[in-house]
Amino acid sequence: EVPAMKDRYEDSFPIGAAVEPYQLEGIHGEILKRHYSSIVAENVMKPVNIQPEEGVFNFEEADKIVQFAEENDMALRFHTLVWHSQVPEWFFLDEEGNEMIDETDPEQREENKQLLLERLENHIKTIVKRYRDEVDAWDVVNETIDPNASNARGLRESKWYQLTGTDYIKTAFETARKYAGENAKLYINDYNTEVEPKRTHLYNLVKDLLDQGVPIDGVGHQAHIQIGWPSIEETRDSINLFASLGLDNQITELDVSLYGWPPTPAFASYDEILESGRLFDQAARYSQLFELYGELEDKISHVTFWGIADDHTWLDDRAEAYNHGVGKDAPFVFDPDFNVKPAYWEMMGYNIDG
Ligand code: G3I
Repeated sequence: EVPAMKDRYEDSFPIGAAVEPYQLEGIHGEILKRHYSSIVAENVMKPVNIQPEEGVFNFEEADKIVQFAEENDMALRFHTLVWHSQVPEWFFLDEEGNEMIDETDPEQREENKQLLLERLENHIKTIVKRYRDEVDAWDVVNETIDPNASNARGLRESKWYQLTGTDYIKTAFETARKYAGENAKLYINDYNTEVEPKRTHLYNLVKDLLDQGVPIDGVGHQAHIQIGWPSIEETRDSINLFASLGLDNQITELDVSLYGWPPTPAFASYDEILESGRLFDQAARYSQLFELYGELEDKISHVTFWGIADDHTWLDDRAEAYNHGVGKDAPFVFDPDFNVKPAYWEMMGYNIDG
């Protein structure tokens, strides 16, 4: 049996995986217990799943994940209290059932804004009160920055933003703090945090919020990355930049795609991937990455992969979407049969080249 990932990094940070409830059992469950010391829900704790209708909370699937973490003495991340995606439409409808966005009367717009913020508070309060003793880190707000936005600050022009400006972010963090307590760890989470202009937009937003007294503890770096991008230097700079604000950093959704952007052409099968030799390039990448995380371990409190093994990854859906329905990716350190890959040996500190 190979050494456990969580043991190798025990003195540095927990090693986590994103999971669907079905993966708590069988072979996935075994791999989780053996190699990982933290879990996060890949989907079931998102707003559309937890509160599909106003006032109707569905905790059944989420509870399974919380319980698994408890039983196996694992850390638990919560993903995510607020997001522009996977959020049910009812949040943005006024009391007559009309889109709040369409309202033009300023007074009515202000009322709509207050209604939306109240709904947000209620959503967060209900979840946080239920899970506050079990959750170690909260993704409070996810993906607030969009470099293609038309505003100069790069703020994502989601419905949240259009209806409240940045007040939804403030309300979310303040409500989470209020109900989760002083010791709770609250994160603003995003992807491409390493690269400009997104890094600077996020830095400016976070700095501004901190100056206003908004209770943010850290930045979640999703790290949906590629073999050759972003660079290790950019990654290091980004961690150091946010640490310079006195913030913690967590790596929250790590996966190393075999492809560039867009992910074309893609290999059609795992056999093709094996024949290509690209898993060795990926292994070299994992080596550099975990060397960096180790170097920065005082500034990084957590590393979570966005999945367990190459049998299940959102990147397959992406590869398929861009390659006429035929495409496979392989972002993790376990293969689809749960055997260790070259990337596993490299991230564990063995040099497989020599
Ligand atoms: O549950 C339904 C199922 O009933 C239905 O038959 C099926 C048909 O498409 O869809 C299922 O829902 C899918 C869901 O995943 C669960 O598998 C959604 O279509 C699909 O869009 C959804 O994708 C998730 C995606 O977020 C949504 O944007 C991915 O699994 C999940 O990995 C991904 O995770 C995000 C993070 O939350 C934020 N950062 C980026 C990351 C990757 O996109």
